[in-house]
Amino acid sequence: MNAIASALSVRRTAGALGAEIHGTGRLSEASDSLIAELRRLWLQHSVLFFREQHLSPAELVGFARRFGTLVEYPYLKGLAEAPEVIAIVKEPHEKANFGGTWHTDTTYLPQPPMATMLIARETPPHGGDTAFASCTAAYEALSPAMQRMLEGLRGINSSVIADKFRTREDVRPDLPPKLFEAEHPVIRTHPETGRKALFVSSSHTIRFAGMTEAESAPLLAFLFAHQVRQEFTCRFRWEPGSIAFWDNRCTLHDAINDYQGFRRVMHRVTVAGDTPF
Ligand code: SIN
Repeated sequence: MNAIASALSVRRTAGALGAEIHGTGRLSEASDSLIAELRRLWLQHSVLFFREQHLSPAELVGFARRFGTLVEYPYLKGLAEAPEVIAIVKEPHEKANFGGTWHTDTTYLPQPPMATMLIARETPPHGGDTAFASCTAAYEALSPAMQRMLEGLRGINSSVIADKFRTREDVRPDLPPKLFEAEHPVIRTHPETGRKALFVSSSHTIRFAGMTEAESAPLLAFLFAHQVRQEFTCRFRWEPGSIAFWDNRCTLHDAINDYQGFRRVMHRVTVAGDTPF
């Protein structure tokens, strides 16, 4: 183990995915070798968590850029001081939250992001956790016959369902409302680890290519239930300054909406991805 790796404490969150990393120092000042070690850990655990990182929006952008090029989220306008950063805000009077269903980010785009980084600014006194699920664990738990059958299928992913759950106040006034749709393989191969993952979600996948919604529904219903079985998931409790950094190529997440009457504020950036294969 090199000196950088041995200075870190890595506490796994659950059996399938997730690790909380301590001993990094301030992430906005990370050395190149620390970034390389974090990338290795990230590929291993699919989602990394950090605590007590009170990075400004500009520092968050700087840290995220160490992993790739940042991309805009199509529905929300970024912060004035850091346009790459979107604010995810739920006010005490609001009932719906942003991202409150199991999903992989923006799979309705031809190239969904590689990664998402979320930092907590204001957290409710209880609840407001985010749950994550491993699409790799879900794929590997399927029978070989089911895996073979799914290999030949492609999913149609649409923004139509997710649209209902976005935070309305911040919708981009400069863009007309738009429906996005993209076709992706149901079984995706991770471009860095080579591992296969089940790449559908109940928030975005509406049918299989070449089939009707009615024909697709029974198998999709099985896959949606299968992919979030408890043993494939982990759950993160936020505090102000906590960061989650997830691999959007092999995970799902769900922002749990159990803190009615309280405010929750997060800042999010996304890192560009490639065309799933
Ligand atoms: C998201 O889906 O990006 C939001 C997650 C969260 O607010 O916990």
